Amino acid sequence: MSGERAARQGGRRPRVLLAVCGGIAAYKACEVLRGLQKAGCDVRATMTADAERFVGTATFEALSGAPVATSLYGNPGSPIPHIELAEWADAAVVVPATANVMAKMACGIADDCLTTTILACPCPVLVAPGMNVHMWQNPATQANAMTLRARGVSFVGPDSGRLACGDVGEGKLAGVGEIVAAALALLVPNDLAGVRLLVNAGPTHEAIDPVRYIANRSTGKMGYAIAEAAARRGAEVTLVSGPTALPAPAGVRRVSVESAEQMHDAMLSAFADADAAICSAAVADYTPAAPAGHKLKKSREHLDAIELVETSDILADLCAAKGGRVIVGFAAETDDLIAHASEKLRRKGADLIVANDVSRPESTFGADTNRVALVSAAGVEQLETMPLADVANAILDRVCELGTVPNSHK
Ligand code: CTP
Repeated sequence: MSGERAARQGGRRPRVLLAVCGGIAAYKACEVLRGLQKAGCDVRATMTADAERFVGTATFEALSGAPVATSLYGNPGSPIPHIELAEWADAAVVVPATANVMAKMACGIADDCLTTTILACPCPVLVAPGMNVHMWQNPATQANAMTLRARGVSFVGPDSGRLACGDVGEGKLAGVGEIVAAALALLVPNDLAGVRLLVNAGPTHEAIDPVRYIANRSTGKMGYAIAEAAARRGAEVTLVSGPTALPAPAGVRRVSVESAEQMHDAMLSAFADADAAICSAAVADYTPAAPAGHKLKKSREHLDAIELVETSDILADLCAAKGGRVIVGFAAETDDLIAHASEKLRRKGADLIVANDVSRPESTFGADTNRVALVSAAGVEQLETMPLADVANAILDRVCELGTVPNSHK
């Protein structure tokens, strides 16, 4: 992710304000900045005077490509920098959040550029505390954290561990990846909260014998991107995955399968309490009729012709049991894209078919982008070439528009 969703909505990249406070973990804010940029965000920084004692503004300026706001005065071209920055940001991250800055935030004190900007922010704010264990556990800090949480401020960490001061305990800044993920979560809507979404992804392996199998070129990237984006938007995601090299996305329940038959059984059983399903897997259409239990020897056994039988169509079987639930299928084609996709929409009974031309480099197997057409009863919508996470969010937007809500399965 991505704040890809914010990016698509405004036709621009999501903007994150990094508010760096004066703690030893200030250097980690540089990595947070980088992580956010890698996820597609525009980042600008503001720093307290104490933060500048740990890391210079030049570092954040070079990394962000923008001036760092450290003072409310004397900014040529920006007479009211705190308001400008606060209105610019889609989300703000305070990292490392010191006990002092948290206390000021809880009291609404605005006595420098950073605290004034945070006070003026209408956007969601994330606090990543980093401090000594006793400072964190002090009832004053705990009360301030509670006040901020009650006002809708999000927190990530602190973790427990060895602290810079030598003490061991709670107060350690959360991991950079965790902070980035928590910041990105602020940029996406929670419009799938409570929805149970079933997704399948990847290829299937159809055994010829214990050594050989029939497979296809699918990597699972598209389906994994959908599962990840849906989880970020609040869905409870079950991902039935064929063999892939991909790690399970955070917060997603993965069920690993190999064959088309296993995928069929896992999907049909999980669909019983799913509210919607997205079938992106490249399921084998045929499987060996009688896979051998031992390795076939080419010298004495038949490998020149393998008898195949058709597999069950998972998408069609889900659609037969769908009731009012939304089901999305895919069509990977090399020619007559829209005609084939429209035919699959009708034949299988899906609500939407995501059609992509796998003969094009931007939408082929393993690519990090896709160029899809969304084919439904409402017509054909051709989307631009986009990163997979953006395509995933566009598909999820349609899943919402088609009426997916929690408990659709009941
Ligand atoms: N699909 C499925 N079960 C199968 C075959 C396909 O669920 N046994 C699903 C895919 O996950 C995809 C959609 O059906 O969502 C279309 O898959 P595709 O392979 O493009 O189409 P097929 O139905 O296999 O038709 P053809 O091979 O003729 O293109």
